[in-house]
Amino acid sequence: MDGTKTFQINPANRMTGLPTQFFAGLVRKANAQTAKGRDVINLGQGNPDRPTPEHIVKALQDAAPNPLYHRYPPFSGYPFLKQAVAQRYKEDYGVDLDPEKEVAILFGGKTGLIEISQCLLNPGDICLVPDPGYPDYWSGVAIAGGRMEYMPLTADNAFLPDYDRVKPDIADQAKLMFINYPNNPTGATADGAFYERTVEFAAKHGIVVASDFAYGAIGFDGKQPVSFLQTPGAKEVGVEFYTLSKTYNMAGWRVGFALGNSEIISLINLIQDHYYCSLFGGIQAAAAEALTGSQQCVNDLTSAYESRRNALFGAMDEIGWHAEKPSGSFFCWLPVPKGHTSASFSDYVLEHADVVLAPGIGFGTHGESYVRLGLLAPEERLQEAIHRIGKLNLF
Ligand SMILES: Cc1ncc(COP(=O)(O)O)c(C=O)c1O
Repeated sequence: MDGTKTFQINPANRMTGLPTQFFAGLVRKANAQTAKGRDVINLGQGNPDRPTPEHIVKALQDAAPNPLYHRYPPFSGYPFLKQAVAQRYKEDYGVDLDPEKEVAILFGGKTGLIEISQCLLNPGDICLVPDPGYPDYWSGVAIAGGRMEYMPLTADNAFLPDYDRVKPDIADQAKLMFINYPNNPTGATADGAFYERTVEFAAKHGIVVASDFAYGAIGFDGKQPVSFLQTPGAKEVGVEFYTLSKTYNMAGWRVGFALGNSEIISLINLIQDHYYCSLFGGIQAAAAEALTGSQQCVNDLTSAYESRRNALFGAMDEIGWHAEKPSGSFFCWLPVPKGHTSASFSDYVLEHADVVLAPGIGFGTHGESYVRLGLLAPEERLQEAIHRIGKLNLF
């Protein structure tokens, strides 16, 4: 170079078309408040606060020295891990899965949720997404150059999409749809009848269903969440995404699965052949231990979240903040007080109560007038957060 021209990096259109990360701003504000030395209670994120159960960590320690795992693993992962997740689905949901044809191992559920759009959508193709919904669906659709059509989730329909409200021409053009129960951000759960309607709608219009079951293990009041794959016909029209992140507090380990329709599973495996060479074998061994070992840790975790939920709602009652209790996931979907938007309320409680809540608008336009609170702190901290908000006299 002659030194007169400045070298320019021109990102691909794919990069400039990515959705903005709404919550990055919230994280910055929370960090700024912490940097001032304030005692910030961060309930705005979805990062499990407890450690991975000991027996799973021990399985990694035992597996780490094994020279077999120091070599490249098989491209689509070790058969023993696929067998382990198939066994768990059989025991928990009575669902039969062929470990080789109907299971793909993922670097966390997130990668699969992005990959499925790349596998199925051509530029301009329509994907139905829930509003409010988990923002990673948008990322995958944007990278694939697809187009999103929103399915509103509102309290009057128990935060389930109403398929009768999807315009028939949009439904006929749609190639993919995302559903997610137990739901982030609303904490709603779905029953078998909803999944039957989903299979019927998908089959009628030729839409592939991506059921995000990230919170599948977390159901309250004695009700185990239902898997989409339990519905007759589900495997013909779609796949389910499962992850160890929430069930076993393994968010940092990055282990997830796509399960169901064998053609979609082979597409996911194919795209992954180009991106990765599967996870470290020691992590796969520990993941298999999580799935096949004692499930007491899962029951304990769910009970802990339920106690936290009850403690939180007890404190909310005291300050006159009324909301529907979540029936699953670890999120509470709470209405903001009169005179506030979701963003102004989140900013206000961060500034005046040092409590971080995620503004609902960050999950879609139908998230406006709600905030999402994660049950990811001990009961006393959750109660303290509500007491601090109570002192602001907003309710
Ligand atoms: C609804 C939902 N789906 C999927 C994921 C992805 O989880 P992971 O990539 O850790 O498996 C999350 C994580 O927060 C989530 O909330």
